[in-house]
Amino acid sequence: MRKSAEGFRVATELEPEDGRKRYRAGALADFPEGHHEVVVVGARQIGVFNIKGTLYALPNICPHQTGPVCEAKRVTGTLTADGDHKPQWVYDNEVVQCPWHGLEYHVPTGQCLAYEHIKIRRYRVEVSGDDVILRM
Ligand code: FES
Repeated sequence: MRKSAEGFRVATELEPEDGRKRYRAGALADFPEGHHEVVVVGARQIGVFNIKGTLYALPNICPHQTGPVCEAKRVTGTLTADGDHKPQWVYDNEVVQCPWHGLEYHVPTGQCLAYEHIKIRRYRVEVSGDDVILRM
């Protein structure tokens, strides 16, 4: 596996399909459940997450001030309050917190939990045989 100067895995470009670029991020075994890491895909850095057995791919750029959101050490949940102001733990193992200013994002939807108008885009990621494929 090739590594970038920053130590990130480098994806391999494949033949395009339907006019869209495709990249092999690695083997499915490289992205076990609960794992996330940044992969260099062409000129972009993309965070690949395995959340409860489903793969997600988000740009490593926080919409707030471009922080490396996918380089967060771990994926966790968050606290919210119900109508009676009782704290509740939600989105367990589905939330990434940007290391720069702490904004939290729900990985499966890309939604910022603090601000409804902020959302991270998501890339298409799929498993083909044993390969994790990103489509741009
Ligand atoms: S840059 Fe991510 S929270 Fe500010």
